[in-house]
Amino acid sequence: MGLVIALNKGRILKECLPLLSACGIEPDEDPDKSRKLVFASRTGGHKIIITRSADVPTYVEHGVADVGVTGKDTMLEYGEGMGFYELLDLKIGQCRMMTAGPKGLPEPGGVLRVASKFTNITRRYYQKEGRQVALIKLSGAMEIAPLLGLADTIVDIVDTGNTLIANGLEARATICDISTRLIVNRASMKTKFESVQSLVSQLSGVVASNDAARSE
Ligand code: PRP
Repeated sequence: MGLVIALNKGRILKECLPLLSACGIEPDEDPDKSRKLVFASRTGGHKIIITRSADVPTYVEHGVADVGVTGKDTMLEYGEGMGFYELLDLKIGQCRMMTAGPKGLPEPGGVLRVASKFTNITRRYYQKEGRQVALIKLSGAMEIAPLLGLADTIVDIVDTGNTLIANGLEARATICDISTRLIVNRASMKTKFESVQSLVSQLSGVVASNDAARSE
C-alpha cells in the first residue's frame, strides 16, 4: 500500500531525498526545481508532499500524511507524543539546541529576557532550570536580538557555530541534541503496518551503511 510522505523544503529535503531514493522512492519531478507541492513516486504508489517544516507534524498528526521527516527541534516545539510516533533517527541534520548570549558578558540576574522562535522548548528548559524568564517570540534571525538590546539570551540551533561568532555571541548551555527523525501517524502504523515497516527497515539499512561509511 502506498504511503503519503511529508517532507519540507530546504536542508531536510536535500539530505532526505538520497535516503528515500536508496529505498527506491523517488518523486516524479525534482521538488527543488518544481513549484508543485505534491509528487507521485516513480514506483511503489507513494505520494510525497512538501510542506513548511513546522507543519510536517501537523500533517502527520492529522493523518493527511502517513509518515513525515522532521527535525527533533520541530517535534519538541510541536509537542511530542500527540498523534504520531517517532520511528527512526535518520542521523542527518545533526546540530544542537543551545542558549547563547553576547561574548564575554555574564548572564544578568533577575528575570532573563530570552528571544527564540522555539518558545515551548525555551519555556520548558527554563522551568526545569527554575529560572524566571520573559519570553520574546521571534520568527528567525534570533542572533540580532541581543545585539540590539531586545534580549539578554537567545535559544537557537547551533551547527558550526559560525552564525553566533559572526554576530558577537557565544554558546552557553546545550538544551538538547537535534537530528532529523522519521515520524508516523498512529492510525497509519496499524492500517499500513507492512508499508511502514518496510520503509523503516529499508531506511534503517541505508542510515546504518551511511553511518559506517562516515566512520571509516
Ligand atoms: C539556523 C539557526 C542559526 C544557524 C546556525 O538557521 O537558526 O541561525 O542555522 O548554523 P551555524 O551554527 O552553522 O552557523 P537556518 O539557516 O536553518 O535558518 P532559519 O533562521 O530560518 O532557521
